[in-house]
Amino acid sequence: MQPTERSLIEATEKFVKNSLREAEPGHDWLHAQRVRSLSLKIARFEKAALDYRLLEVAALVHDLYDHKFSDPHDSFRRIKAFFAERPEIDRQFFDQLVYTINNISFSRQKKDEPKPDLIVQILRDADRLDAIGAIGVARAFSYGGYRKRPFYDSDQAKDPGNTLQHFEDKLLKIKDLLYTNAAQNMAGKRHLFLISFLEQFSDEVDQSG
Ligand code: ADP
Ligand code: NI
Repeated sequence: MQPTERSLIEATEKFVKNSLREAEPGHDWLHAQRVRSLSLKIARFEKAALDYRLLEVAALVHDLYDHKFSDPHDSFRRIKAFFAERPEIDRQFFDQLVYTINNISFSRQKKDEPKPDLIVQILRDADRLDAIGAIGVARAFSYGGYRKRPFYDSDQAKDPGNTLQHFEDKLLKIKDLLYTNAAQNMAGKRHLFLISFLEQFSDEVDQSG
């Protein structure tokens, strides 16, 4: 890696870490780091011909922009101000970065949209892999706790937002929504873990009911 690339990555790490210092643990700096590592792993496995610097920066910043936690206009202003000061990049890099992170989100993905660019495919796969397996379980309950949602449906809260429902709505579907072979390979064990977690969870709820 060139020294200018290193300095861009190091500055971005600092910016993201600082921006996420009070984040809910499911969307924090550790999540950004995992998505960065998974993205690079997938890209190398796929021998993807793309700008690895853009991939790494996009992975690090992807959740700064999350409408669930902050006003997107405000986040965008802060991201823009940070990158405007970076000497290593030009306008084209910034525009590609904005386009890329705007397209990662699962919840904002449109139905029947055409297959996205390879870089978006890889970032989506990495972000989704981190939503399944043991880490996925931890993240789902962390987010549910942050929103004060019940673990599962109860008389007290006939709430479609209970966290167990999120497994049905999204997490169990993830393995069939991945684009790359590399991510599909990594998803197998994580998906099985979700199923076994749900079985055990339901046994314990039955036992105590
Ligand atoms: P994206 O940022 O791609 O739109 P999400 O923010 O929906 O994706 O998902 C990111 C993480 O937040 C995942 O780990 C997911 O399980 C968790 N999450 C999102 N919505 C819920 C929910 N309703 N209940 C529990 N966890 C959730
Ligand atoms: Ni994310």
